[in-house]
Amino acid sequence: MKVNNTNFNKNNVGETVTLYGWINKKRDLGGLLFIDLRDRSGIIQLVISPSSRAYNTALALKLESVIKVIGKISLREKANNHLKTGEIEVNVDSLEVLNSSQELPFDLNNVTALEDTRLKYRYLDLRREELKHNIMTKHLIMQSAREYLNNNDFLEIETPILCKSTPEGARDYLVPSRVNRGSFYALPQSPQLFKQLLMISGFERYYQIARCFRDEDLRADRQPEFTQIDLEMSFVNENDVMTLTEGLLKNIFKKVKDLDIKTPFTRMTYEEAINIYGSDKPDTRFDMKIQDITFYFQNTEFSIFKEVINNNGIINCLVVKDSADKYSRKDVDKLTEFVKTYKANALAFLKYNEEFTGSIAKFIDEKTAQELKENLSLENNDLILIIAGNKKMVKTSLGALRLKLGKDLNLITPNKYNFLWITDFPMFEYSEEENRYIACHHPFTEPQDINSLSDKEHALARAYDVVLNGYEVGGGSLRIHNPEVQEKVLEALGLSQDDAYEKFGFLLEALTYGAPPHGGLALGLERLTMILCGTENIRDVIAFPKTTSASCLMSKAPSTVSPSQLDELHIALK
Ligand code: AMO
Repeated sequence: MKVNNTNFNKNNVGETVTLYGWINKKRDLGGLLFIDLRDRSGIIQLVISPSSRAYNTALALKLESVIKVIGKISLREKANNHLKTGEIEVNVDSLEVLNSSQELPFDLNNVTALEDTRLKYRYLDLRREELKHNIMTKHLIMQSAREYLNNNDFLEIETPILCKSTPEGARDYLVPSRVNRGSFYALPQSPQLFKQLLMISGFERYYQIARCFRDEDLRADRQPEFTQIDLEMSFVNENDVMTLTEGLLKNIFKKVKDLDIKTPFTRMTYEEAINIYGSDKPDTRFDMKIQDITFYFQNTEFSIFKEVINNNGIINCLVVKDSADKYSRKDVDKLTEFVKTYKANALAFLKYNEEFTGSIAKFIDEKTAQELKENLSLENNDLILIIAGNKKMVKTSLGALRLKLGKDLNLITPNKYNFLWITDFPMFEYSEEENRYIACHHPFTEPQDINSLSDKEHALARAYDVVLNGYEVGGGSLRIHNPEVQEKVLEALGLSQDDAYEKFGFLLEALTYGAPPHGGLALGLERLTMILCGTENIRDVIAFPKTTSASCLMSKAPSTVSPSQLDELHIALK
């Protein structure tokens, strides 16, 4: 049986060993042939002398060919401290070619190839150290999550992949049923309803490392299929779920990074997060808070600000410390273009150097200057970037600008892990696309006050998200366990009673047979892995990911199917 090539070290000098692996690199130095032999565990150096029978075979082999060698371990003349096996090398006596590789489509040791090429040959790209490390980290995260949850009385239970389509949330992936003509299954967007039903069945503590499928617009941190560390508990309140999750994350960080993260995590309400950071997943690794300066412009002569104030809008700003000299008017124009993508009309700016200069300086009278200076704690060379308009647009665009500035100005300390709970989410949010209120978390979330449901703008939910370094790494809530409350919430979401029963009848009925109070949460496994691996690309932590157009460049899924397959499913294409 093969052993890891990196198990060997200077204590094995003199031993004859059999090694298997891929030719990672080859160097012909002064007659001797050096090969970096790679296996899953890492690299070990082989030396082949021209007098060896293996020499000519090895010389002719292309990189990434698979070989078996027998040789003797000796001490290296000059150790390589970057390698675990850097003190030794193996003098090859015999070499067997197990499979020779053809010329590679891209160089695995110096990746300049386009991501599309790498995705087409994903199995080759996965041979690279970086990707292999990411996949191994994900494995460790899953292991430590299982360990923690098993130790805390949770049961791992599987739930169906072929489910019923429900109208809430993202778009479903549909699977036609051959047997039930005209009917479709949906792939689960999450095991939400099943885990609630398991609580009603009395399992009390459930978890699953669950595959989820959502047909939504993809981004750098979103894939159409992804994995959740999904859990649900009975007889709990918000604090219980949050404390349990903190313990789970603590265990993951200890096992994966040997880091002791500080618990409990800071908590912030949704409203505070939006006001201060313009986001419900703020990156708190750097300061630069959004500040409200509407008040100081109450009597302004500046017509645009005047109009905003008359329309109940707000004027907010970011103070970029000690940076006025870094931003020319042209640079600010670029920032303006950036905020326009968030629907801001304009970006006003001021530079402070004992006095104000900048696009709106002529509207800053002495009193306003003094107020701004004091309340924003201005110092020389500060840059003030201002957006005025309706609250949602102002907060969103300044929140995005804050993140951009944080990155551009290198304000984010690397290797810092800032956890944060966001609490008191709204129950509903307005969907411009659907022209109606939808559930902010999901329709099974308990409202804080059942009597508040008619005030859709202000009704709050017993929902919480866990945020890490600006990513929403998990979300959950306490669930409705009373059928009347559930009906009311579905009604508030615009579902008639008939519709509600048609879609969720099984849940509404189950709630009438002794449903315990329950709640839970799901962590996004890929997001967590991305942060622990230091990558911003979700594809880097998935063995076989999809592109942003939801396709697999390697297997070419999705693909057309034969007319007979469609016939069997009673489907005709338009
Ligand atoms: P939610 O929809 O917030 O909650 O999802 C939980 C977590 O899953 C991750 N996530 C994703 N990761 C990658 N690609 C995606 N497309 C994607 N969508 C979500 C995020 C998110 O925080 N059933 C509820 C959980 C609950 O209430 O218990 C749910 O699915 O990190």
